[in-house]
Amino acid sequence: MSAADAEGTEHHPITEAVLARLASTPDARTHALMAALVRHLHAFARETRLTEAEWFQAVSFLTAVGQTCTDRRQEFILLSDVLGLSMLVTDQNHATPPGGTESTVFGPFHVPDAPRFALGEDISGGAAGEPCWVQGRVLGPRGEPVPHAQIDVWQADAEGFYDVQREGLAQAQARGVLRADADGGFRFWTIVAEAYPIPTDGPVGRLLEATGRHPWRPAHLHFMIAAPGHERLITHVFRRGGRYLDSDAVFGVRPSLIADWIRHEPGTAPDGTRRDAPYWTLDFDFVLQPAAASAPARPEEPSA
Ligand SMILES: [Fe+2]
Repeated sequence: MSAADAEGTEHHPITEAVLARLASTPDARTHALMAALVRHLHAFARETRLTEAEWFQAVSFLTAVGQTCTDRRQEFILLSDVLGLSMLVTDQNHATPPGGTESTVFGPFHVPDAPRFALGEDISGGAAGEPCWVQGRVLGPRGEPVPHAQIDVWQADAEGFYDVQREGLAQAQARGVLRADADGGFRFWTIVAEAYPIPTDGPVGRLLEATGRHPWRPAHLHFMIAAPGHERLITHVFRRGGRYLDSDAVFGVRPSLIADWIRHEPGTAPDGTRRDAPYWTLDFDFVLQPAAASAPARPEEPSA
């Protein structure tokens, strides 16, 4: 008996008819994905006794999600995030061994080709927020330095907005690309991350409201780190002690990614500069995995 038989979905004539229609799909993986999608969609409709009005409401909702997407806003990623699908896919494709830095959701606010900065420069671009010095190292699984990794970093400002959410900005803010030094070291100035709500003015916001959920994400800094011979790491560093660590709207928190962000009174910062106002420091090392040891896990192929 196949898994589909056990679910009782395959012997309904309409389900059988659609699965039969897919039988000549040339690509085996496309066939497996589409057949599983049809079985699960049909099972969902049967389990819930889906009404025509509900079906139309769902079509209208997905239409609105698509129509909300622009080149600066990705409502479908946001939908995937709040349903926990993004984190599930991340988890099953990145089985991090002990000591390795865990992955978490990519999120909807990354921008390709962000401005490049030299180590030690300020990526904030005038974004609101208290200054924060971030430093650390990019390491391999045995603690060896990974030289010259490309480090892509992005974050929200003190008011909870990413630059792409602000109209009319002349330049990128609080995002940038750096290259670690030969010892894997990196360092830069930015602003301290604060908790922020994901956008609630679109269909995903209405979904959260309809289900009694808050939209908040705990304070975090996004990183995407790439180095030859290593698996690309997409992750966050979260602020210990911040709000919403136990109820992240997109389920992205991993305890190993929570770090101490330390606030300092005016004085001499780690880069030797004099700070006349309070500032923060964050020190965090990233441990990459070898590319060969972490090929993406493939879920079991459905039997149909
Ligand atoms: Fe974020």
